[in-house]
This record gives sequence, C-alpha cells and structure tokens, in this order.
Amino acid sequence: MVKGIKDVHEQILDVLSRYLSPLNAKGVLSRALARADLRRDQLDDVTAPQVVGNIQRAARLFVDPAALAQLEEELTRLASSGQAPAAVKVQVNGERDIVKARAAGRQICEQLRANAFSVQKVATVVSELARNIVSYAEQGHMEVTPIPGGRARVRIVAVDDGPGIPNLARILSGKYRSKTGLGLGIVGSKRLADKFDIQTGRHGTTVSVEIVL
Ligand SMILES: Nc1ncnc2c1ncn2[C@@H]1O[C@H](COP(=O)(O)OP(=O)(O)O)[C@@H](O)[C@H]1O
Ligand SMILES: [Mg+2]
Repeated sequence: MVKGIKDVHEQILDVLSRYLSPLNAKGVLSRALARADLRRDQLDDVTAPQVVGNIQRAARLFVDPAALAQLEEELTRLASSGQAPAAVKVQVNGERDIVKARAAGRQICEQLRANAFSVQKVATVVSELARNIVSYAEQGHMEVTPIPGGRARVRIVAVDDGPGIPNLARILSGKYRSKTGLGLGIVGSKRLADKFDIQTGRHGTTVSVEIVL
C-alpha cells in the first residue's frame, strides 16, 4: 500500500464512495471492520485484505451488478499492493536450517506486529519442531504461514518422511523422558499452541500448530 497522506481507511472509503452513497460506504466499511474484529486504527497493509474480502461480499447487496466487477478490481488492487507477509517454506536438512526457520518465524511475527511474548512462542515452537526433524527424521521442511486479521495467527507446519513416533501417546501424556533432550519439544509445543495436531506413522510425521498472536 502506498503510504501517502491518506491512510488505508480513507483510501478504501474513497473507492467505496464512488460506488455507494457516503452513508452506505461508511456503513459497509464499518461492518467489514467489525466482522474482521478490527478497530479502524488497526486497518493497515496487513489487515486490509481481510477487510476488503468482507466488503466485497457486502457490496454485492448494494452495488449495481454492472459496476460490481470494477469495484472488486479496485478494492483487490488496493489490498494487494500492501506487503501482506507471505508464507515461508524452509527445507530442513541440518542445524543451520533450524536457525533459518526460527528467523523466518520471527520475521513473520514482526510483520504481523506481534508482541515479544508471542514472537518468543512462535520461535520456540519452530525451533523445537525443526530440531526434531534434524534429530529424528534427518530431513523435512517447515512452513510458517501468517494469518492476518483482528485475531492474527501464525500457522507452523513441520513435515518429514522419517520413521514416525511409535510412542506418541506416552510422549503426549508427559511421562516420556528422552535420552537426547529434555523431552519437552512436542509437549512444550502443544502447551504453547492454540491449536495442535500431530499425524505420525511409518512414513513420517506432520505437526501442525497455530499460535494466536
Ligand atoms: N519428527 C520426528 N520423527 C520421529 N520421531 C520424533 C520426531 N519428533 C520427535 N520424535 C520422538 O519423540 C520424542 C520426544 O520428542 P520431543 O518432545 O521433542 O523431546 P526430545 O527431542 O527432547 O526427545 C523424541 O525423543 C523422539 O523419539
Ligand atoms: Mg525435541
């Protein structure tokens, strides 16, 4: 989003006002914000795509079908000119990739304006899961995906095609004591997560974690 004199809120309002009455334009925008659970001052490059999505749905009721495509195009252009952070995928083959994945996690958090505590949570989960790939599966990959919005989240997915975790139930129960580490990578990640899922079998392991920032 080009940072001019006008903020994102005004830019969207300008576009809407060319298709709707001023009153309707304001109403549509404020409902789109409410639906995204955002205040006006939280509307920025990162959150704009979600709000614009909400506006497009609402606008179908208000805008002449002949003009709708044009409005949608204008709004999409406005939202996608921002630097909404992209998902990052890191191949994990060795120690150095753990550092790389961790840095990617931190960067995404910062782009989503996460507080220091949330950044730490994400960085910890990313490095524990990446470390497990290196230690037990040799190689795999990590994917860190930003999910902007009023309740911004980060999704962390660790995938490998290693031997799997046969004693997962015991590990999750907290009774497991590992020889190599503290044995808290998986349980610790689960504790830090707002959503946690692990799929494991003879053909590999996939751990998915969501952390609300
Ligand atoms: N990706 C994985 N592939 C295979 N086994 C794994 C994987 N991640 C964890 N494990 C197994 O689960 C155990 C517990 O992992 P974790 O909770 O990270 O503790 P630690 O790594 O300190 O042992 C490990 O000791 C290992 O046996
Ligand atoms: Mg571990």
